Amino acid sequence: MNEHIDKIKLQLEALRADIELHNYRYYVLDNPTILDAEFDQLFRELQRIEQNYPQLITADSPTQRVGAAPLKAFTQITHRIAMLSLNNAFDDAEVEAFNRRICEGLSIDCVEYAVEPKFDGLAISLCYEGGMLKTGATRGDGNIGEDITVNLKTIKSIPLSLPGKQPPTLLEVRGEVLMLKADFLALNQRQLTKGEKEFANPRNAAAGSLRQLDPAITAHRRLTFFAYGVGRNEDSQMPKDKHSDVMNYLASLHFPIAKECQVVTGLQALLTYYRTIGAKRDQLPYAIDGVVYKVNSLSQQEQLGFVSRAPRFAIAHKFPAQEAITQLLDIDVQVGRTGALTPVARLKPVFVGGVTVTNATLHNADEIERKDVRIGDTVIVRRAGDVIPEVVSVVLDKRPFDARVFTIPDHCPVCGAKAVRLPEEAVSRCTGGLFCPAQRKQAILHFASRRALDIEGLGDKLVDQMVDNAIVHTPADLYKLGITALANLERMADKSANNILQAIEKSKHTTLARFIYALGIRNVGEATAKELATHLGKLDRLIEANSERLQQIPDIGPVVAQSLVDFFAEAHNREVIEQLRACGVHWEEHEGKSVLMLEAAPFSGKTFVLTGTLPTMSREEAKEKIEALGGKVSGSVSKKTDYVVVGTDSGSKYDKAVSLGVRILDEEGLLTLMQ
Ligand code: IVH
Repeated sequence: MNEHIDKIKLQLEALRADIELHNYRYYVLDNPTILDAEFDQLFRELQRIEQNYPQLITADSPTQRVGAAPLKAFTQITHRIAMLSLNNAFDDAEVEAFNRRICEGLSIDCVEYAVEPKFDGLAISLCYEGGMLKTGATRGDGNIGEDITVNLKTIKSIPLSLPGKQPPTLLEVRGEVLMLKADFLALNQRQLTKGEKEFANPRNAAAGSLRQLDPAITAHRRLTFFAYGVGRNEDSQMPKDKHSDVMNYLASLHFPIAKECQVVTGLQALLTYYRTIGAKRDQLPYAIDGVVYKVNSLSQQEQLGFVSRAPRFAIAHKFPAQEAITQLLDIDVQVGRTGALTPVARLKPVFVGGVTVTNATLHNADEIERKDVRIGDTVIVRRAGDVIPEVVSVVLDKRPFDARVFTIPDHCPVCGAKAVRLPEEAVSRCTGGLFCPAQRKQAILHFASRRALDIEGLGDKLVDQMVDNAIVHTPADLYKLGITALANLERMADKSANNILQAIEKSKHTTLARFIYALGIRNVGEATAKELATHLGKLDRLIEANSERLQQIPDIGPVVAQSLVDFFAEAHNREVIEQLRACGVHWEEHEGKSVLMLEAAPFSGKTFVLTGTLPTMSREEAKEKIEALGGKVSGSVSKKTDYVVVGTDSGSKYDKAVSLGVRILDEEGLLTLMQ
């Protein structure tokens, strides 16, 4: 019997080690070597054996990451070595002063530093005894934190036990728990669909998730961990020389270390690192609020020591804040190219994300209501990277008694036309179309933009003047401009007027894809415009195509097709196109990708569904052949399907075709039909 149990024990150990290795490869190295389904199978196997032998379940079994019972309250944990904070530097001069203090303190000219991202998450401490994770705690006030072991165990990148035959007697690893930006966005999306409150940023989301009394909730929230140092340790293997060696050692124990950690020498290298990471900030998968410089030599660190609650040997060099508090003075409504009315907050100027911000978007009426934003409120504004600044939330405590509720107007503030909100849309739109000066200006700006006709120098100030002075009404009018009309505009010298005219002249030679995109048709972006140009080859074919014909082009669905048909049905739009051509705007035309004229194609208007394995053709080949003859291939069978082509191992699609009475073909039948 004992022998049997010993065998099971060994089997369980091997299985657990295997699963944790795959967790490590997936969550730490970002380099999985098995499929998710294979992993699930290993996990279920472990669960199955443990169910039969519950006495063999160990604390470090991967099955124990989740499943702990909810807590009533968190208990306290005393940090035997205090968790300190870092002093901050906000500009180059403060970093220079830091480096000078270090050089003087050590009586040397040049210092080696370990440089790291400053993670914008929550500091935690993990205690391993005999290689097993015993406790995990928050930083708290630095001396006393909360025991959140059960929650930390749910984080897959945190090892439950340390690899190797001779684990350290005691090791306390410190680092930061965060939520990756992608996981944060997905979480907010889920919150939204559940009708629950969104989190303001990844840090709040991580904090909210860690402070759950029910670890099952934390487990659902995909958190990540990065180690940045050690606390207590009784570990003979622990490197004694350099911080960077300690980090490499932690990596060898399977702790996640940020790829961006480096070792550099001297002040200039610190500042270069700051700028390099700053430029990469928005592309990093996690949020950071600066970088950290640490003297790399551990003996030098000791020599420098601490001042009050922070080490002398390290400093955080912070990036400009991306969020700031200010006052919302008023709400204006902007009209976009497609008539969308966007509420814009006028703010008391505030410095955020490295620039002074005076306007921020409020997106739409629903968002204003959801965030309960009122005129006069104190608000939190966020500006990250290149994105438009936005109002994140309201500081309710500071709401003045006379704060005013805002409602989206039911008429366009620019042209006075009625504004309507379609039931499936989040925004109201001005119905003035191109009679609305705001829409006209945006349409002209779009026409001239870089990815459209690319007219250099035609910016919004100039377009405003052109439209307001009634010298340009449509994009075609740009090509009729003379030097006098232009030079009469404000702040327009002869030279700049000439430059604009040259840029307009140059834009006449373009491509069909750019031209289609430039027209600014609803739902037709750059990719769709390219698709239309390659498949149709000629503008007149596009103008004449009906919805059915358009939908034969890959990726063109009914909504886009309808937008195109509606656009070209408008006489005004066809007139502008004619004028543009008459003014000399031109591009090369060709016969289009499909050799046959679509209207003459034998499969035109017919929809096919392919299922199962065909005897001689691959599904891809069959699809190409059907499309070349003007047919459309769809993924699912409906009443609108004309033919279902079945091969061997066809499943539910065949049954559905039978039940709907759709015609069924085999490969031979399809080939005959093609002929
Ligand atoms: S070292 C003795 N390294 O910053 C200093 N801290 O203000 C120990 N932080 O609470 C901290 N990234 O949560 C260190 N690479 C990094 C860090 C980092 C973020 C946080 C940490 C700490 C705070 C210090």
